[in-house]
Amino acid sequence: MSATTPIATQCHGYTPVPMALMTPDEVPAVDLYRRDLNTGRLQLYRAANVPITQDDLNKLAETQINWLYAAEIDPDEMQMVIRRKLDALVRDDSVGIRDRFRKLNDIVTEVLSSAFEVNNTDEIVSSSAEIGQLAVRVLCEDEMTAGDLISLMHHDFQTATHSLNVAYMMVILARKMHLVPDSELSAVAAAGILHDIGKLSVSDRILSKNDRLQRREQRVAQKHPALGFNRLCRRVDISFAQLMVIYQHHERMHGRGYPVGACDDEIHPWARLCSVVNVFDSLISNRPYRKRYPLHEAISMMDEHLSDGLDQEMYRCWKQYILKK
Ligand SMILES: [Fe+2]
Repeated sequence: MSATTPIATQCHGYTPVPMALMTPDEVPAVDLYRRDLNTGRLQLYRAANVPITQDDLNKLAETQINWLYAAEIDPDEMQMVIRRKLDALVRDDSVGIRDRFRKLNDIVTEVLSSAFEVNNTDEIVSSSAEIGQLAVRVLCEDEMTAGDLISLMHHDFQTATHSLNVAYMMVILARKMHLVPDSELSAVAAAGILHDIGKLSVSDRILSKNDRLQRREQRVAQKHPALGFNRLCRRVDISFAQLMVIYQHHERMHGRGYPVGACDDEIHPWARLCSVVNVFDSLISNRPYRKRYPLHEAISMMDEHLSDGLDQEMYRCWKQYILKK
């Protein structure tokens, strides 16, 4: 998958079929279409009666085609297949942890991008819960070093990718801090995935602007924690702690954050956790207006300018993890 190209997975009336989970013997026996990368139109790629070989799958991967489309598959059935295969992939200890993580990351980034793309809150919330469980299983199985984790994550700045990165890092930091019992780590991961969901209500023009935002635009962008809170606060499948991550992840310990300028203990511990890794991931990610900073430079910048608003104990713990060889 391309690390820099946002991939539109939605094509009205067609069900996306992810290539990363397919093997030649498991390709669905229906007509499959591929999307022309230039025009966005679907073209017949393979008729139902023609087999797909491993070579074909490799060629698709080389051309950065990650999804094919089918008109005759029930989307719910496809979702079940994806979930079953992801689950099997995560459990398969004959495959190295790095490969499992890489594949998991590829698939869930696509699934999440797709849900964010169509602004489907229900899908995002249910995906986040499932992805949270899968991510925790992989992340907890083996001590993944910071270098491993970061080299495996993608650093383009898209809300879905960023959210996933934040989720992974929140799980690592929550474990290091012994903040929650292991049984709650998947809820922490889900909170990470959801933390920026309010950005779905902020115009793309502002979110992907190439220059720094003007004051007025900044005020609009800064509404995303409250917008996210409003979007999810009436749901019964979101916990108070998760809601606080969404609402308070831009609050700062010194009270100069937003939306309300809460400080110290007024900020929920899960939100403080999110703030630390959110700042870090923003620095190590490409933004529309700047390139990403190398790891050590990102930590220096946090030390010099940004860490005073963060929970100091959490920041120290994160820094120790990142700088550990
Ligand atoms: Fe945010």
